[in-house]
Amino acid sequence: MIVQVNGIALAYDDVGTGMPVVFLHGFPLDRSMWSNQRTSLSLRARCIVPDLRGFGDSEAAPPYSIDQYADDVVALLDVLEIEAAVICGLSMGGYIALALWRRHSTRVRGLVLCDTRATADSPEARAGRDAAIALAMADGAAAIADKQVTGLLGKATRTRQPELAEEVRAMMGRQPVAGIVGALGALRDRPDSQDTLRSITVPTLVLVGADDTITPPAESRAILDALPDRIGAQLDIIADAGHLSCLERPAAVTHALADFLVTVGPRPY
Ligand code: MLT
Repeated sequence: MIVQVNGIALAYDDVGTGMPVVFLHGFPLDRSMWSNQRTSLSLRARCIVPDLRGFGDSEAAPPYSIDQYADDVVALLDVLEIEAAVICGLSMGGYIALALWRRHSTRVRGLVLCDTRATADSPEARAGRDAAIALAMADGAAAIADKQVTGLLGKATRTRQPELAEEVRAMMGRQPVAGIVGALGALRDRPDSQDTLRSITVPTLVLVGADDTITPPAESRAILDALPDRIGAQLDIIADAGHLSCLERPAAVTHALADFLVTVGPRPY
Protein backbone atom coordinates (compact mmCIF):
# COMPACT_ATOMS: atom_id res chain seq x y z
CA MET A 1 0.00 0.00 0.00
CA ILE A 2 1.10 3.56 -0.60
CA VAL A 3 0.08 6.62 1.37
CA GLN A 4 0.99 10.29 1.04
CA VAL A 5 2.65 11.59 4.23
CA ASN A 6 4.85 14.58 4.95
CA GLY A 7 5.13 15.36 1.22
CA ILE A 8 6.22 11.89 0.06
CA ALA A 9 4.66 8.62 -1.06
CA LEU A 10 5.32 6.09 1.71
CA ALA A 11 4.95 2.37 1.00
CA TYR A 12 3.95 -0.03 3.76
CA ASP A 13 2.36 -3.37 4.59
CA ASP A 14 -0.49 -3.58 7.08
CA VAL A 15 -1.24 -7.21 7.86
CA GLY A 16 -3.06 -8.99 10.68
CA THR A 17 -5.13 -7.96 13.65
CA GLY A 18 -4.39 -7.31 17.29
CA MET A 19 -1.85 -5.09 18.94
CA PRO A 20 -0.27 -2.77 16.36
CA VAL A 21 3.45 -3.37 15.90
CA VAL A 22 5.53 -1.17 13.59
CA PHE A 23 8.65 -2.80 12.15
CA LEU A 24 11.47 -0.46 11.10
CA HIS A 25 14.20 -1.75 8.83
CA GLY A 26 17.93 -1.16 8.92
CA PHE A 27 20.31 0.54 6.50
CA PRO A 28 20.45 0.21 3.51
CA LEU A 29 17.57 -2.23 3.39
CA ASP A 30 13.80 -2.18 3.03
CA ARG A 31 10.65 -3.56 4.60
CA SER A 32 11.16 -6.99 3.05
CA MET A 33 13.76 -7.71 5.76
CA TRP A 34 10.85 -8.16 8.20
CA SER A 35 8.85 -10.54 5.92
CA ASN A 36 9.26 -13.56 8.20
CA GLN A 37 8.09 -11.75 11.31
CA ARG A 38 5.29 -9.98 9.43
CA THR A 39 3.90 -13.29 8.23
CA SER A 40 4.37 -15.24 11.46
CA LEU A 41 3.13 -12.57 13.85
CA SER A 42 0.14 -11.42 11.82
CA LEU A 43 -2.06 -14.01 13.56
CA ARG A 44 -1.62 -12.21 16.87
CA ALA A 45 -0.62 -8.65 15.96
CA ARG A 46 -1.33 -5.95 13.40
CA CYS A 47 2.01 -5.76 11.63
CA ILE A 48 2.72 -2.39 10.02
CA VAL A 49 5.89 -2.46 8.00
CA PRO A 50 6.91 0.73 6.18
CA ASP A 51 9.71 1.39 3.75
CA LEU A 52 11.47 4.40 5.23
CA ARG A 53 11.70 7.41 2.93
CA GLY A 54 14.31 6.78 0.24
CA PHE A 55 14.11 2.97 0.52
CA GLY A 56 12.09 0.21 -1.09
CA ASP A 57 8.95 1.52 -2.75
CA SER A 58 8.86 4.79 -0.79
CA GLU A 59 9.76 8.02 -2.48
CA ALA A 60 13.34 9.26 -2.18
CA ALA A 61 13.02 12.91 -1.27
CA PRO A 62 14.60 15.14 1.38
CA PRO A 63 14.68 16.07 4.18
CA TYR A 64 16.47 13.08 5.66
CA SER A 65 17.09 12.77 9.38
CA ILE A 66 16.39 10.20 12.08
CA ASP A 67 13.75 12.58 13.46
CA GLN A 68 12.14 12.89 10.01
CA TYR A 69 11.92 9.11 9.64
CA ALA A 70 10.25 9.00 13.09
CA ASP A 71 7.82 11.75 12.09
CA ASP A 72 6.97 9.84 8.91
CA VAL A 73 6.06 6.79 11.01
CA VAL A 74 3.80 8.90 13.23
CA ALA A 75 2.15 10.39 10.13
CA LEU A 76 1.50 6.83 8.96
CA LEU A 77 -0.03 5.94 12.36
CA ASP A 78 -2.25 9.01 11.99
CA VAL A 79 -3.46 7.88 8.57
CA LEU A 80 -4.14 4.39 9.95
CA GLU A 81 -5.89 5.93 12.99
CA ILE A 82 -3.62 4.04 15.39
CA GLU A 83 -3.18 5.80 18.69
CA ALA A 84 -0.14 3.88 19.89
CA ALA A 85 1.93 0.92 18.71
CA VAL A 86 4.82 -1.26 19.74
CA ILE A 87 7.82 0.04 17.79
CA CYS A 88 10.34 -2.61 16.75
CA GLY A 89 13.44 -1.33 14.98
CA LEU A 90 16.68 -2.97 13.90
CA SER A 91 19.88 -0.92 13.90
CA MET A 92 18.91 2.29 12.05
CA GLY A 93 15.33 1.25 12.83
CA GLY A 94 16.35 1.19 16.50
CA TYR A 95 17.73 4.74 16.26
CA ILE A 96 14.36 5.75 14.82
CA ALA A 97 12.46 3.88 17.54
CA LEU A 98 14.36 5.91 20.16
CA ALA A 99 13.62 9.13 18.26
CA LEU A 100 9.96 8.14 18.21
CA TRP A 101 10.02 7.76 21.97
CA ARG A 102 11.82 11.09 22.39
CA ARG A 103 9.45 13.01 20.12
CA HIS A 104 6.13 11.13 20.33
CA SER A 105 6.15 9.02 23.50
CA THR A 106 2.35 8.87 23.70
CA ARG A 107 2.35 6.94 20.42
CA VAL A 108 4.65 4.22 21.76
CA ARG A 109 3.13 1.23 23.59
CA GLY A 110 6.38 -0.74 23.81
CA LEU A 111 9.84 -0.85 22.26
CA VAL A 112 11.94 -3.56 20.69
CA LEU A 113 15.51 -2.48 20.10
CA CYS A 114 17.25 -4.99 17.85
CA ASP A 115 20.96 -4.96 16.96
CA THR A 116 21.31 -1.28 17.67
CA ARG A 117 23.11 1.22 19.89
CA ALA A 118 22.17 4.39 21.77
CA THR A 119 25.38 6.33 21.26
CA ALA A 120 26.01 8.83 18.46
CA ASP A 121 28.69 8.30 15.80
CA SER A 122 32.31 8.80 16.84
CA PRO A 123 34.41 11.22 14.74
CA GLU A 124 35.87 8.17 12.93
CA ALA A 125 32.42 6.77 12.22
CA ARG A 126 31.29 10.18 10.92
CA ALA A 127 34.27 10.26 8.56
CA GLY A 128 33.29 6.73 7.45
CA ARG A 129 29.79 8.01 6.61
CA ASP A 130 31.30 10.73 4.42
CA ALA A 131 33.46 8.16 2.65
CA ALA A 132 30.40 5.95 2.12
CA ILE A 133 28.47 8.93 0.70
CA ALA A 134 31.30 9.53 -1.78
CA LEU A 135 31.35 5.81 -2.69
CA ALA A 136 27.58 5.66 -3.22
CA MET A 137 27.62 8.78 -5.38
CA ALA A 138 30.54 7.54 -7.47
CA ASP A 139 29.75 3.84 -7.81
CA GLY A 140 26.11 3.38 -6.79
CA ALA A 141 24.20 1.12 -4.43
CA ALA A 142 25.98 -2.05 -5.58
CA ALA A 143 29.30 -0.69 -4.27
CA ILE A 144 27.75 -0.08 -0.84
CA ALA A 145 26.25 -3.57 -0.93
CA ASP A 146 29.61 -5.15 -1.78
CA LYS A 147 31.31 -3.25 1.01
CA GLN A 148 28.76 -4.05 3.73
CA VAL A 149 27.23 -7.44 3.03
CA THR A 150 29.85 -9.61 4.73
CA GLY A 151 29.86 -7.61 7.95
CA LEU A 152 26.08 -7.65 8.26
CA LEU A 153 25.82 -11.41 8.63
CA GLY A 154 27.22 -13.65 11.34
CA LYS A 155 29.86 -16.28 10.64
CA ALA A 156 27.44 -19.21 11.05
CA THR A 157 25.00 -17.59 8.62
CA ARG A 158 27.70 -16.99 6.02
CA THR A 159 28.67 -20.66 6.21
CA ARG A 160 25.23 -22.25 6.50
CA GLN A 161 23.09 -19.88 4.44
CA PRO A 162 25.22 -18.48 1.59
CA GLU A 163 22.02 -17.75 -0.34
CA LEU A 164 20.99 -15.26 2.35
CA ALA A 165 24.11 -13.21 1.69
CA GLU A 166 23.06 -12.94 -1.95
CA GLU A 167 19.50 -11.96 -0.97
CA VAL A 168 20.80 -9.24 1.31
CA ARG A 169 23.26 -8.02 -1.31
CA ALA A 170 20.41 -7.81 -3.84
CA MET A 171 18.20 -5.96 -1.34
CA MET A 172 20.92 -3.38 -0.73
CA GLY A 173 21.81 -3.11 -4.39
CA ARG A 174 18.27 -2.09 -5.40
CA GLN A 175 17.99 0.89 -3.04
CA PRO A 176 18.06 4.32 -4.66
CA VAL A 177 21.35 6.20 -4.30
CA ALA A 178 19.47 9.33 -3.17
CA GLY A 179 17.94 7.36 -0.29
CA ILE A 180 21.28 5.80 0.66
CA VAL A 181 23.06 9.15 0.63
CA GLY A 182 20.26 10.81 2.60
CA ALA A 183 20.30 8.03 5.19
CA LEU A 184 24.08 8.16 5.57
CA GLY A 185 23.80 11.85 6.44
CA ALA A 186 20.99 11.06 8.89
CA LEU A 187 23.03 8.30 10.53
CA ARG A 188 26.12 10.53 10.73
CA ASP A 189 24.22 13.41 12.33
CA ARG A 190 21.99 11.47 14.71
CA PRO A 191 22.04 12.55 18.36
CA ASP A 192 23.14 10.48 21.31
CA SER A 193 20.11 8.66 22.77
CA GLN A 194 21.45 7.56 26.17
CA ASP A 195 19.33 10.10 28.06
CA THR A 196 16.36 8.94 26.00
CA LEU A 197 16.88 5.40 27.31
CA ARG A 198 16.73 6.66 30.88
CA SER A 199 13.34 8.28 30.17
CA ILE A 200 11.61 5.14 28.83
CA THR A 201 8.52 4.02 30.75
CA VAL A 202 7.06 1.37 28.42
CA PRO A 203 7.89 -2.36 28.20
CA THR A 204 11.13 -2.81 26.27
CA LEU A 205 12.89 -5.79 24.73
CA VAL A 206 16.54 -5.52 23.71
CA LEU A 207 17.61 -8.16 21.22
CA VAL A 208 20.92 -8.82 19.48
CA GLY A 209 22.67 -11.47 17.45
CA ALA A 210 25.45 -13.10 19.49
CA ASP A 211 27.80 -12.65 16.53
CA ASP A 212 26.80 -9.09 15.64
CA THR A 213 30.05 -7.23 14.95
CA ILE A 214 28.44 -3.92 13.87
CA THR A 215 26.43 -3.36 17.05
CA PRO A 216 27.91 -6.08 19.29
CA PRO A 217 26.09 -7.53 22.32
CA ALA A 218 28.05 -5.11 24.54
CA GLU A 219 26.04 -2.25 22.98
CA SER A 220 22.81 -4.03 23.87
CA ARG A 221 24.01 -4.65 27.41
CA ALA A 222 24.77 -0.93 27.69
CA ILE A 223 21.23 -0.17 26.50
CA LEU A 224 19.79 -2.58 29.07
CA ASP A 225 21.90 -1.04 31.84
CA ALA A 226 20.67 2.46 30.98
CA LEU A 227 16.98 1.49 30.95
CA PRO A 228 15.09 2.18 34.19
CA ASP A 229 14.89 -0.93 36.41
CA ARG A 230 11.16 -0.48 36.94
CA ILE A 231 10.26 -1.33 33.34
CA GLY A 232 11.78 -4.80 33.71
CA ALA A 233 13.45 -4.79 30.30
CA GLN A 234 14.89 -8.03 28.96
CA LEU A 235 17.94 -8.75 26.82
CA ASP A 236 17.64 -11.60 24.33
CA ILE A 237 20.86 -12.76 22.69
CA ILE A 238 20.20 -14.78 19.54
CA ALA A 239 22.78 -17.52 19.03
CA ASP A 240 24.36 -17.97 15.59
CA ALA A 241 23.11 -14.62 14.31
CA GLY A 242 24.95 -11.49 13.29
CA HIS A 243 23.63 -7.95 12.74
CA LEU A 244 20.59 -9.01 10.69
CA SER A 245 19.22 -11.32 13.38
CA CYS A 246 15.63 -11.23 12.10
CA LEU A 247 16.74 -12.59 8.73
CA GLU A 248 19.42 -14.94 9.99
CA ARG A 249 17.39 -16.66 12.75
CA PRO A 250 13.83 -15.66 11.83
CA ALA A 251 12.03 -18.20 14.03
CA ALA A 252 14.11 -17.35 17.11
CA VAL A 253 13.46 -13.64 16.66
CA THR A 254 9.76 -14.21 16.01
CA HIS A 255 9.49 -16.27 19.21
CA ALA A 256 11.23 -13.58 21.22
CA LEU A 257 8.87 -10.96 19.80
CA ALA A 258 5.79 -13.11 20.40
CA ASP A 259 6.80 -13.67 24.03
CA PHE A 260 7.44 -9.97 24.46
CA LEU A 261 4.08 -8.97 22.98
CA VAL A 262 2.35 -11.09 25.61
CA THR A 263 4.10 -9.08 28.31
CA VAL A 264 2.99 -5.82 26.71
CA GLY A 265 -0.51 -7.13 27.12
CA PRO A 266 -3.76 -6.49 25.34
CA ARG A 267 -5.18 -3.03 25.18
CA PRO A 268 -8.10 -1.79 23.10
CA TYR A 269 -7.10 0.58 20.32
C1 MLT B 1 22.02 -0.54 10.04
O1 MLT B 1 22.04 -1.78 9.96
O2 MLT B 1 20.96 0.09 10.02
C2 MLT B 1 23.33 0.17 10.13
O3 MLT B 1 24.34 -0.71 10.50
C3 MLT B 1 23.25 1.33 11.10
C4 MLT B 1 24.53 2.09 11.15
O4 MLT B 1 25.32 2.03 10.19
O5 MLT B 1 24.76 2.80 12.14
